[in-house]
Amino acid sequence: MGLKPATNPDVEAAEIELSIDGKSVMAKSGVSLYDVISSTGKIIPAMCYHYTFDPFGSCGMCLVMQEGKKAPVRSCSAKATAGMIIRTEGEDLFQARKKAVEKHLSVHPLDCPVCDADGHCELQDTAFQHGVTNLANAKQKFIPEDTRSPALDFNMNRCIACAECINVCKDVLMIDALQFMKKGGFNQVVPKGDLALSCEFCGDCLAVCPVGAITNKFSKYLYKPWQMKKTTTTCNYCGDGCQMYLETKDAEVVRVTSPLSWKNKWGDRADTAKGHGGLCVRGRFGFEYIDSPARLKQPLLRKGNQLVEAPWLETMHQVVDRFSDIQRKHGSYAIAGLITARCTNEELYLFQKLMRAGFRTNHLDSSARYGHLNFVQASRHALGIGRNPNDWEDLTKAKAVLLIGSNITETNPLTAVRIKEAIRVYKAQVVVIDSATTNIAKLASHPFLIKPGTEGLVIDGIVKATLELDLIDQEGTQKFPLSFKALKEAVAHISLEQVAAETGMSVEALKATAAIFAEAPRSIILCAEGIVRRPDGYQNVLKLIDLAWITGKLGQPGCGVNTLTEEPNEQGAVDMGVAPEYLPGQSSFDDQGVRDRFAKAWDVTLPAAGSGANLTEILKRCRSGQIRALYVIGENPLATFPASMEVRAALDRLELLVVQDPFLTETARMAHAVLPACTSAEKDGTFTNLEGRVLRVREAIDPIGESLPDWHIMTALASALGCQWGYESSNDIQAEIMKLLPGYYNLGQPRKIVPTLEPYFSDGYAADVAERYRPSAPRDTRTQRPFVLLMGQILYHSGKMSTKAPGLITIAPNTGRLRMNPQDMERLAVGEGTTVRVTSDHGSVQLAVQPDQSIGPQTCFFPEHFNEPPVKDLMSVQIDSATGVPSFKQTRVTIEKV
Ligand code: SF4
Ligand code: SF4
Ligand code: SF4
Ligand code: FES
Repeated sequence: MGLKPATNPDVEAAEIELSIDGKSVMAKSGVSLYDVISSTGKIIPAMCYHYTFDPFGSCGMCLVMQEGKKAPVRSCSAKATAGMIIRTEGEDLFQARKKAVEKHLSVHPLDCPVCDADGHCELQDTAFQHGVTNLANAKQKFIPEDTRSPALDFNMNRCIACAECINVCKDVLMIDALQFMKKGGFNQVVPKGDLALSCEFCGDCLAVCPVGAITNKFSKYLYKPWQMKKTTTTCNYCGDGCQMYLETKDAEVVRVTSPLSWKNKWGDRADTAKGHGGLCVRGRFGFEYIDSPARLKQPLLRKGNQLVEAPWLETMHQVVDRFSDIQRKHGSYAIAGLITARCTNEELYLFQKLMRAGFRTNHLDSSARYGHLNFVQASRHALGIGRNPNDWEDLTKAKAVLLIGSNITETNPLTAVRIKEAIRVYKAQVVVIDSATTNIAKLASHPFLIKPGTEGLVIDGIVKATLELDLIDQEGTQKFPLSFKALKEAVAHISLEQVAAETGMSVEALKATAAIFAEAPRSIILCAEGIVRRPDGYQNVLKLIDLAWITGKLGQPGCGVNTLTEEPNEQGAVDMGVAPEYLPGQSSFDDQGVRDRFAKAWDVTLPAAGSGANLTEILKRCRSGQIRALYVIGENPLATFPASMEVRAALDRLELLVVQDPFLTETARMAHAVLPACTSAEKDGTFTNLEGRVLRVREAIDPIGESLPDWHIMTALASALGCQWGYESSNDIQAEIMKLLPGYYNLGQPRKIVPTLEPYFSDGYAADVAERYRPSAPRDTRTQRPFVLLMGQILYHSGKMSTKAPGLITIAPNTGRLRMNPQDMERLAVGEGTTVRVTSDHGSVQLAVQPDQSIGPQTCFFPEHFNEPPVKDLMSVQIDSATGVPSFKQTRVTIEKV
């Protein structure tokens, strides 16, 4: 129906005045009359309406009287216009609405006792409110339940044909997986084509269904809504940081629900720019890892070749004695620690404090090293800011989005929904540059398929095209003439034709991208795994910053260079100082003033300036015997790195390996002591999402077995080491962080950060810009290894944690198959299921293939979540010389039919 959001950054809608129930109300012209009425606090029943998508107008509940009209008006689909005189109350309206409820109830089974929505059902509520007691013409439907989907069941006997499920899927998610179909005399919701549901399984249709027609397979017939405790918390799967409700019954996690619900259908249409409140499949259906039977419930100690259960006290004594012994004999630098960015800010803070103030070592790192640190370090180097400058609202309202090296609907699905809204509501031009035909590319105005591994060259081409087309921000570049001159000289050797030949992106496409980005008033760059997790990631982020600078997009409202964080708290890990180069607040570890401040606050002498090993250096030093004790929290390097990193050899050499984890991981199996840790559902704290928003994590259930929150275990360890830490809760740690980093807990909207161009662009830029555009040796066509093998994330999983959630494994099991472009399969004369041998410089693996249209030519893909068969061991590792970020998700291979 094309109703407008109440605010639009480009079109200032006229302010109008209308009367509602005798009161004068101001509104924007063209918005839904229902939105205007609900903004006054009046809630009219509305069973087919939701503010996140355009009205459908089918249920007949939102009736109001408009002066001058004889019959009631459906307020959801009526546009607010100046001078309207509206009445929302009265016996006539009550009776009209009651008739509508009766109509819906007459074709709805009264099977409330066995319906999961009982007590949380809009039809029940409205029937009750309208006193519906007599259904004279009730019809039974007898439609068999559709249970073909792995996550959702469709009971069309209960459906009231409100179309909310269809509309959220089509409008908000732009997936369009559902439709109405007339079957057995009734209009039924069916998956498109009446086939088994094939979609992203986000469950938003389930969330908005006002009755129990769509049900969650993983929590069906377990409990009534009122029997469960509902805890508001933050999802532990990706950096989007979605808010969710964990619904629990005692120690059991029953289901996850979202703020998006038929219950919260009353909102300001413009608010969706900040998020629509939905979840993705991981958040909604991936909760079963929390109370998995595989959880560690007791500490384990190595006795001979075996890990055996042991009491906490004995385990901690042994751990502390052995750490102390190693420290005494070999010094503090013989100890190192790794932690996952799935821990809370408070735990990450405590971890670096324990390593530095407890063990007196600066050998520490987190999973932010897998890529996010390339972005942080480049952005800090050039602009002095170590996080994204833009939030979801900026992204939604951007006029141009340049998405490069990111399969965003798979890694950060809810940030992807912001781009979808930018396309649908705010008419943004979206350029997607990737070596796969991603889902977002299918919706983008300008999708460009490139050869894998050529993202950096593509950026060279866009920068060069921007200069050639003179799309330059004169004012901004004239402020730093020497830097601008140096950039022009640095890219002088680049030929667009050459870039096009090497990348597969045509000269016209390079120029079109440059023009779209430069000419839009609000342009945002989003780069992810194809940039930050690849060789030269650091330099490639700097090149994107160059592009934003010369087009005047640095520091302009609604513009900037951003990245996506894959784990929930990668930003927090960097902010809390879990990296040898940073103290909390991203202060340099070597800055004397900052060192003094922390040394005083912690009452210790910090490890020496300049000391410290990062993730890959730690593993190297473990192999060489310099590091003898390793404390690993939630990380699993053995299952993450390829064999060529020789992680097993590194861990084998250790005198002490302590692993703290909710599960007995591959790395934990090699440990001398395993400490059972809680998941985020069993603890309080905060995560910092990719917008820089600090979000609450809340304890929903008691710790499983004898597991403990990571902060608790670290506090006990520190006390045994002689530290006088008195933390009794996560709040105590938060209070300390608040003192040291005032303003960090922004809880709510993050502070807007503005880049500072001055130091770098006036001094330093000219000296290092040539390096990043240095001509590389001509790309070897490598006919001997003609394919590029990529490993990466798929929508249904996150790291290895999601593989512990049976729901997600049901939806997306490990097929053990290599995904290939169908044309390539044809050339190799292999069909679906045919076994091939994939060979890289590091060995061969045999596995079956499966066609995938989204995979580019001469590329193949295997999901990084699974190590069976061991495809990861085919990868080589390259370390970014500037940041120490290891890149190991891409390699060249040959593929032969076996
Ligand atoms: S689960 Fe999500 S993608 Fe699938 S039909 Fe429902 S709304 Fe659409
Ligand atoms: S399944 Fe639910 S949301 Fe979909 S049309 Fe039926 S009642 Fe409405
Ligand atoms: S988008 Fe990320 S944070 Fe949101 S529900 Fe999905 S996995 Fe969780
Ligand atoms: S809410 Fe308006 S017709 Fe259903």
